[in-house]
Amino acid sequence: MLPLLREWLGIAWLLVSVTQQEGQVTTEQGNAFQTTCTYETSYFNGLLWYQQKKGQGPQLISNQAIAGTKQNVRFTTELNITGKYSVLQLKEVELSDSALYLCAVRDTLVQGGALVEQ
Ligand SMILES: *[C@@H]1O[C@H](CO)[C@@H](O)[C@H](O)[C@H]1NC(C)=O
Repeated sequence: MLPLLREWLGIAWLLVSVTQQEGQVTTEQGNAFQTTCTYETSYFNGLLWYQQKKGQGPQLISNQAIAGTKQNVRFTTELNITGKYSVLQLKEVELSDSALYLCAVRDTLVQGGALVEQ
């Protein structure tokens, strides 16, 4: 739980706006899924994607600060800093991927100092 809280604290809440295009998306198992997040902020220090399953807290699935494509086990994220957007992609959707996908912009270098010291 601690790392999660630390990540949330690292996000500045004064960011101007983060917009996700789609509302609810329904995809059949095995199909690809992607969602785009656009943001407006004066200072950019990384884009975070979270997965929140029903009844659970958000879980960090991607943290990207350098433009380009980043891949982890199941997710691919593409960050375009010039265009101020990020695309989250899932190649083959499984039932267990049913979740809310959230994005957030980190616009500060300070990251949860208070909590880490406890
Ligand atoms: C990034 O976004 C800009 C502005 O929308 C666009 O011109 C550019 O082609 C994009 N770059 C990539 C690598 O997709």
